[in-house]
Amino acid sequence: MSLMSRRHLIIAASGLAAAAASSRAAFAQAATPAPGGPFKMDPLAYPANALEPHIDAKTMEIHHDRHHQAYVSNLNNFAKDNPQIAEKPVVEVLANLGNVPEAIRTGVRNNMGGHANHTMFWQIMGPNGGKPDGEVLAAVDRDLGGMEKLQTDFNAAGGRVFGSGWVFVTVTKDGKLAIETRPNQDNPIMDGKRALLGNDVWEHAYYLTYQNRRPDYLKAWWNTVNWKAVAERYAAAKAGTLGV
Ligand SMILES: [Fe+2]
Repeated sequence: MSLMSRRHLIIAASGLAAAAASSRAAFAQAATPAPGGPFKMDPLAYPANALEPHIDAKTMEIHHDRHHQAYVSNLNNFAKDNPQIAEKPVVEVLANLGNVPEAIRTGVRNNMGGHANHTMFWQIMGPNGGKPDGEVLAAVDRDLGGMEKLQTDFNAAGGRVFGSGWVFVTVTKDGKLAIETRPNQDNPIMDGKRALLGNDVWEHAYYLTYQNRRPDYLKAWWNTVNWKAVAERYAAAKAGTLGV
């Protein structure tokens, strides 16, 4: 073999080896799970199809496993260089966003807001959610004009959210309720209030089943509310122990 062709072979072989190595690296990268870190999300407490026909299983899977997961993964990426954002409870960080370094403040607002909103959302839904009663029902009657008016006003407010956002029933520490909306992934914690319950009106929450018919989704969504969980949140809000 001439020196030239031998050299050519060596180059070709090393090129092949490099290509194999880079393909292994690409595969390893693709197979690597979402970055770990201090922020975690809970699995759904019920099967993805448990809320059908009101919310389809595919929507639940994509919403929980991809959208919510993305917020958590982004937070873990921020925490690599800014571990202090994970050293305090989420409620405390969201209530004091001005203390977050400016370079990551918008990212933390969006992703930690998204993490908090979705954690609440999965918690206040479930199959066989029962009906409101006791203190929650009394507060709805007193502050929101009863269940029928609550649903009408809440759905109207959710329908008016332009683009992406949330519609909430907020609760103060003395148990007073109000219907409020927020854009993007903002959460009432950011302005000193708390969400008793809330509905996600981002298109990712409903598009597969409802397409552009957000009002139909808002109406059907009430069938998924877990009133036992809402009652627990109400009691916790009044006791000052409510998480996100
Ligand atoms: Fe969402």
